[in-house]
Amino acid sequence: MGNITFLALLLCLSAGALIVQAEDPYLFFEWNVTYGTIAPLGVPQQVILINGQFPGPRINCSSNNNIVVNVFNNLDEPFLLTWNGIQQRKNSWQDGTLGTMCPIQPGTNYTYRFQVKDQIGSFFYYPSTAFHRASGGIGGLRVNSRLLIPVPFDEPADDYWVIMGDWYTKGHKALKKFVDSGRSIGRPDGIQINGKSGKIGDKSEPLFTMEPGKTYRYRFCNVGMKTSLNFKLQGHTMKLVELEGSHTVQNLYDSLDLHVGQCLSVLVTANQEPKDYYLVASSRFTKKPMTSVAIISYTNAKGPASPKLPPSPPENSEGIAWSINQFRSFRWNLTASAARPNPQGSYHYGKINITRTIKLVNSRSNVNNKLRFSINGVSHVDSDTPLKLAEYFEVADKMFKYDTMADEPTLKSEKVTLAPNVVNATFRNFVEIIFENHEKTIQTWHLDGYSFFAVGIEPGRWSPEKRKNYNLLDAVSRHTIQVYPNSWAATMTTLDNAGMWNLRSDMGERSYLGQQLYLSVLSPARSLRDEYNIPDNTPLCGLPKGLPMPPPYTP
Ligand SMILES: *[C@@H]1O[C@H](CO)[C@@H](O)[C@H](O)[C@H]1NC(C)=O
Ligand SMILES: *[C@@H]1O[C@H](CO)[C@@H](O)[C@H](O)[C@H]1NC(C)=O
Ligand SMILES: *[C@@H]1O[C@H](CO)[C@@H](O)[C@H](O)[C@H]1NC(C)=O
Ligand SMILES: *[C@@H]1O[C@H](CO)[C@@H](O)[C@H](O)[C@H]1NC(C)=O
Ligand SMILES: *[C@@H]1O[C@H](CO)[C@@H](O)[C@H](O)[C@H]1NC(C)=O
Ligand SMILES: *[C@@H]1O[C@H](CO)[C@@H](O)[C@H](O)[C@H]1NC(C)=O
Repeated sequence: MGNITFLALLLCLSAGALIVQAEDPYLFFEWNVTYGTIAPLGVPQQVILINGQFPGPRINCSSNNNIVVNVFNNLDEPFLLTWNGIQQRKNSWQDGTLGTMCPIQPGTNYTYRFQVKDQIGSFFYYPSTAFHRASGGIGGLRVNSRLLIPVPFDEPADDYWVIMGDWYTKGHKALKKFVDSGRSIGRPDGIQINGKSGKIGDKSEPLFTMEPGKTYRYRFCNVGMKTSLNFKLQGHTMKLVELEGSHTVQNLYDSLDLHVGQCLSVLVTANQEPKDYYLVASSRFTKKPMTSVAIISYTNAKGPASPKLPPSPPENSEGIAWSINQFRSFRWNLTASAARPNPQGSYHYGKINITRTIKLVNSRSNVNNKLRFSINGVSHVDSDTPLKLAEYFEVADKMFKYDTMADEPTLKSEKVTLAPNVVNATFRNFVEIIFENHEKTIQTWHLDGYSFFAVGIEPGRWSPEKRKNYNLLDAVSRHTIQVYPNSWAATMTTLDNAGMWNLRSDMGERSYLGQQLYLSVLSPARSLRDEYNIPDNTPLCGLPKGLPMPPPYTP
């Protein structure tokens, strides 16, 4: 054991939380979360910074590294970070949602400790509480393949993050007032790209610079509140190499759609005339179009970017067909070696018998004159006691009922039930989760704790016969899926990660106003083989406060 690893191990032991395998390296971070003033859309406004930055500090780690992040909350509100796409194996204790842990109170700190087990790719973290995401606190998290594990492309000359999304100039407190009073947050004011926005013709510093002839990896994430984006790099094609943690078949694209909550990586070769080029991010499927640009320059650039932008993909129904075709062109590279999620199920997911089908239909309604969003007629409400802790301390029956929501929507019922939405899921079941969207707007859905195979998207309604259209061979294993207006999307996964896992609309106001649920995946064994012990530094709130600690799990 190297000295540094040994030291790290000692540090961890002294912190009293050896939940992770000792032989894998540790990375330590200290993050100070504060308010600050920047102007993502040109108007100075209050934002949430981490160590003074927006986007926040990046985490650069490798598969199986142990990540330790001590987060100091210097805001005036409780705060939590969630790690979008990081599977937190056996460790929903620190998933950073209100159903799994108590928020970090103002003026206090909490140390996340987790392992990025058997994963590679591009992810992001963001605040999950009180609309904070609309004000920042977001950053990239990259997981490299371990040394000696071949990556299916040559080492790029550099690695560039593009954290982009729709943006509101109002800030999270004003937006939260809107939704708390039962109204929508309305349309965003623009699109930010790494904390800035630009128009054609602006004189601005390049976002990134490329050397002629070299190839660069760009990691794009859509971290917005509701808007799907299309992006392109003027004059260049982009080779897709990774999508939400899976190496893909390497197709070339002129432009790519990226929906809220999703990240992908492309390779771009600087093989054009040496000058400036626009990176263009535009809204998709919105009434009022929005566009923002940034400049990508060559080191020996001899001229400005041309104001003539390449054409955008179509909008409306033609645009949806275009986008669905693009989705279908995303294929998993089955021969690329990499850490794989669900290793037992990965290669033959198409041959596993489905043990349960859950069909989720999103809806929007008014309850007592207030806007609510629900799934199969249930609109989730958070409780003072995180659901995971209620289960662990065996006080769940005082707080919520399992399976308030049915596995299929009840026909014609307009009734909306406001309650904690907890699904009793069976450990190791192979489930099919169908998302059916009857609304006129696009949706995105995200599952914590897992990745799923996104086996199909089609317009219309889902029925069991549609299974014959599934991609049962090389669908991409991912954690977020878009659902087009009046369309469905089908996903499959093995529920082999015990814990309490959030399944949510990735659209800020929808999840806040109830469009989310938790899958309670209990291992009856209460064994360390299936789930880590509750970390020693877990803050308690609600009912468990003052209760005796349950006996720890056994090996
Ligand atoms: C965090 O930042 C605030 C404001 O700049 C500062 O007062 C505080 O000391 C910092 N805390 C830590 C732990 O660095
Ligand atoms: C990230 O980690 C990789 C692999 O350890 C290393 O090659 C690279 O230089 C790091 N990049 C940054 C920006 O720290
Ligand atoms: C808060 O930070 C201190 C100082 O770094 C650390 O010792 C302590 O463990 C942290 N508290 C929690 C709950 O993580
Ligand atoms: C898949 O990965 C393999 C192994 O790294 C690579 O040689 C191949 O080019 C990739 N295939 C495609 C279609 O991208
Ligand atoms: C799957 O279901 C089929 C039909 O019910 C059955 O014949 C088969 O044995 C099952 N396969 C597995 C692996 O359980
Ligand atoms: C959850 O479902 C299992 C069967 O899969 C059942 O044994 C268990 O009692 C259920 N738990 C609750 C709390 O309903």
